[in-house]
Amino acid sequence: MSDRLNLGVIIGSTREGRWAPAPAGWIAGVAERHGGFDVDLIDLLDADLPQHLVEDDMWSTEADPSAPVAALSERLHRADAFIVVSGEYNMSIPASLKHAIDYYMNEWAAKPVAMVTYGGKITGGQNAAQHLRQIFPELRTMTIRNSIAFPRFYQHFDDRGEFTEFGATEPAAKTLLDELHWWALALANARKATPLPSPF
Ligand SMILES: Cc1cc2nc3c(=O)[nH]c(=O)nc-3n(C[C@H](O)[C@H](O)[C@H](O)COP(=O)(O)O)c2cc1C
Repeated sequence: MSDRLNLGVIIGSTREGRWAPAPAGWIAGVAERHGGFDVDLIDLLDADLPQHLVEDDMWSTEADPSAPVAALSERLHRADAFIVVSGEYNMSIPASLKHAIDYYMNEWAAKPVAMVTYGGKITGGQNAAQHLRQIFPELRTMTIRNSIAFPRFYQHFDDRGEFTEFGATEPAAKTLLDELHWWALALANARKATPLPSPF
């Protein structure tokens, strides 16, 4: 596929012993094979944002951000689209993910985001996905229709400890990536043609 765009795949959990890198690595691999994206796997654990929001560190164009905040800002700015990978935490998303979303504003704007979720329960992280669908419009980020959910993921490992559902989910991932690419291209062209109006 032509029109290669930049895709940021975000590992939302920083929990010790987290599963997040497995589904994130899987969807990043499918996205690389898709052909429409250059993929940046963004691990919020490595990003090492300050634990508390610092006013001068965020949002303002006059801000002089600290090195970790500036580094993640650059990677988010570069992305034309995002896939957020998140487990479900008490019917929502992990605090690490919400913190990273809250730290930035323009970096998210006028770009599409898709969700890959999982959870201990049968919902497969859909409550986390639904909360993201409430949060992202505030940042002017477009949540797309297709998403992927792995319910009760811990029940699907083989004797070698490999997760068994990735292969069967690949067609759904391809559909998600096709939709994400369409929106990413449309919004990249729109950003070039017309500046997004101020939200204020
Ligand atoms: C604090 C906490 C709350 C959780 N709440 C839910 C929940 O509401 N629904 C669910 O399906 N699983 C829930 N789980 C299970 C997580 O989805 C599961 O542990 C998953 O592996 C977390 O993602 P991570 O391993 O990438 O950090 C919870 C886990 C934790 C640690």
